[in-house]
Formats: sequence, C-alpha cells, structure tokens
Amino acid sequence: MAIIPNPHKTTGFLGWIDDRFPLTKLWKDHISEYYAPKNFNWWYTFGSLALLVLVNQLLTGIFLTMHYKPDAAQAWHSVEYIMRDVPWGNIIRYLHSTGASAFFIVVYLHMYRGLMYGSYKKPRELIWIFGCLIFLALMAEAFCGYVLPWGQMSYWGAQVIISLFGAIPVVGPDLVVWIQGDYIPSDATLNRLFSLHVVAIPFVLVGLVVAHLMALHEVGSNNPDGIEIKKKKDANGIPLDGVPFHPYYTVKDILGVAVFLIVFLGVVFFAPDGGGYFLEKPNFQEANPMVTPEHITPAWYFGAFYAILRAIPDKLLGVVAMFGAVLILFALPWLDRSPVKSIRYKGPIFKTALALFTLAFIALSYFGMQAPTTLGTLISRIGTAIYFGFFLLMPFYSKIDKTKPEPERVTYEAH
Ligand code: HEM
Repeated sequence: MAIIPNPHKTTGFLGWIDDRFPLTKLWKDHISEYYAPKNFNWWYTFGSLALLVLVNQLLTGIFLTMHYKPDAAQAWHSVEYIMRDVPWGNIIRYLHSTGASAFFIVVYLHMYRGLMYGSYKKPRELIWIFGCLIFLALMAEAFCGYVLPWGQMSYWGAQVIISLFGAIPVVGPDLVVWIQGDYIPSDATLNRLFSLHVVAIPFVLVGLVVAHLMALHEVGSNNPDGIEIKKKKDANGIPLDGVPFHPYYTVKDILGVAVFLIVFLGVVFFAPDGGGYFLEKPNFQEANPMVTPEHITPAWYFGAFYAILRAIPDKLLGVVAMFGAVLILFALPWLDRSPVKSIRYKGPIFKTALALFTLAFIALSYFGMQAPTTLGTLISRIGTAIYFGFFLLMPFYSKIDKTKPEPERVTYEAH
C-alpha cells in the first residue's frame, strides 16, 4: 500500500520516520514553532526545573530499587548497605533524598509564580487543576518514600499520618487497619507503600505532567504581564510578542538548569541532610515500635499543612482543615474575580493579601516542624485563619481592588 508523504517534506531516515510517525510535527508543534511570550522572567524556569527534578527522582529511584529491600526486617539494613557498600550508592541515595526536598522547593516556587501572575485564570484553569493534582500526587509520593528507609521518623510519621484516618466517624478505626494491613505499621504497610511509591504514583505523576503540558500548549503560556499574546498576531498568524521556544527558551532554561545544578549538587555533596531538614536526625536510627521519638515532626514541605491540623483542637475538624487547605487550591480560578491577571496590575488589597499569605505559609511551615508550644499554637491559628482567608475572601477583595490598566503589548526590555 502506498504511503502518503509527510507534509514536512523531510527526506532520508527522518523522512522515513515522518511518513510513519509525527516526529517532525511534534518537534515543531511543541518546541521549534511553539511561540512563547518574549517577556518570560526567571520565575518561568521553574517548570523545566520541575521536569528535571522529576527525571532525577525517576532515575535515581530505579537504581535505589535495585538494592533496597521492602521488608520490615531488612529495609533499614538495605539502605545502610546502599550508603556504605554499593559503589556510588551514597550519592544515588542523597540525589534522591535531597531531590525530594528540591522537588518541593521548585514546585512551591512554580505555584507561587502562578499566584503572582494569575496563571490559573481563564483560559488556563485546567493547567492549574492538573497542577493541583500533581501536587496531591507529589505529597502522596513523598509520604510513601519517607517511610521506606524504616527509620524512627519513617515509622512514627507513618503511624501519625495513617491514624488520622481514624478520626473519620464510624469507619475510621477499621479504615486504619485496612490501610496498614495490620494493627500497627508493619511489614504489610511497608510493602504496600513501596508498591505505591515505586509503581502506582510515579505512573500517575508522569501521566499528569503530560496532561499539564498538553493543556499548556493548547492555550499557550501566560507571562509576567498577564496579557494574551495570541490577541495580536502577524499576517502569518504568529503572535507579535511570541518567540519560538527553541532556541530562545531552551538556551534560557539550560542556564537555569546550570545554576540549579550548582546549588543542588552543592547541597548533595556537602550538606545532604540539609542541616536536619532534608533528612531528619531520628531517621538515622532504625524504626523501633517500642520507643516513640521525643517529637514526631513532618518533613519541612508538609510543615504548613501539619500546623493547620494541629491548630484546630478537634481532631476530625483538624483533618478536614488540613485536606481542605490543599483542596481549596483547586477552586482558585473561580475565586479570583479580578479583571487583570498579573500582580503588576493588581491593586493594593491583593498585594497585601498575597504578602500576608506568604508570611502565614512560612510561619505555618516553621511551627509545623516544631514541638507544640503555646506561642506556636497561637501563631498557627492566626496563620490558618490567614491561609483560608486569602482564598475564601478573594471573591470579595479581588472585585473591589483598584487595578491598573493592562498594556496593549507585553513590556519587554532587550538585555
Ligand atoms: C512535577 C511537577 C510539575 C512539572 C514538571 C510542571 C511543569 C511545567 C512546565 C514545564 C510549565 C511551562 C514552563 C513554566 O511556565 O514554568 C508549566 C506551567 C505551569 N504550571 Fe506546572 N509543573 C508541575 C507542577 C505544577 C503545580 C503543582 C502547579 C499548580 C498547582 C502548576 C501550575 C502551572 C501553571 C499555572 C502553568 C502555566 C504558567 C504560565 O503560563 O504562566 N504546575 N508547568
């Protein structure tokens, strides 16, 4: 049967492929002829950095799995074996454990960029929603991974988090046993968290990232001015304020990657435990169901959500607030009623609200990691009120805020 020649007129081996698979089409649609706004700033590198860290986690995870034993009696020792005896094992493990923290740093900054420039607003609601699902999957992935070394904090962290389901009325206690596969965290628990961490959640994550990028390329990127570049096109239908992603942003992203790797590898090589924040001290001791650590604290990236849980005296309401704090992110595109997207043109109320929200999130993250104190609880309660106030009051304050007019074209200075 005759093959219809591909429209790109490629020849040779590439032509042979293009006649059978849309390789040149994919390259053009998503890279060399994907027009991105020319005014991207540094905040726009965090998406590619998130991709880089994702690949790092997948690759180092594969090599760790080659030596790790998902067995309550052997897990701890297999990690010690990786650290001491497997050639390059310590580097691979630190790339993965420090990589987890790097993932959250990069993703939090990526989300914050979205908040500043209104990237969640129409027509990018689905990019944002896929992002929120990624964030949920990432939290689940990090929790499961944290349990695997079967250290003291792994064990007791798992115990605290799984027992939260016990607060659900009627079915709660049975649910905890069902999730754990036992009455306490045990071998069965470790095995199922391992399979979720290594197979199920990574599949979901990768699938969601593909959906996230497909949605992004369907509508096009937002930018620091928050105006749509597709509204002003030349005679060929190319946005006047757009530049091809390749070579402009491939080069810019490579520079971002270089800076990131210098910092990231500096930490991996010289301070892999991040001063006790990236690998917590109690996790250098093997899990012992008979000895509870003095303070059970979550990893830093869960700190804010844990502080919200503890700020509310009622356990069930605390659990609802903690999950609500993540779920409310999904509603953001419909909470913001401002006529403009970017913080550059938003008014003083939004700027104040975002500043308060930022401070509250940092304070909650900090106090979530500390042992509870009266002052810590008070600040966490104020922080929780600000956190929810930022979102729930947004429909009102974003409407009455005094915005500035957006420019016709993006603001850009050649450098
Ligand atoms: C594995 C995690 C993630 C990866 C690999 C990823 C990847 C990307 C990439 C490559 C871009 C385009 C470049 C850029 O705008 O920076 C992007 C854009 C975007 N991402 Fe993500 N992302 C992730 C997580 C998230 C999360 C958790 C959210 C929010 C909840 C989010 C929201 C967005 C939004 C709104 C845009 C469009 C930004 C704009 O056009 O201004 N992403 N993402």
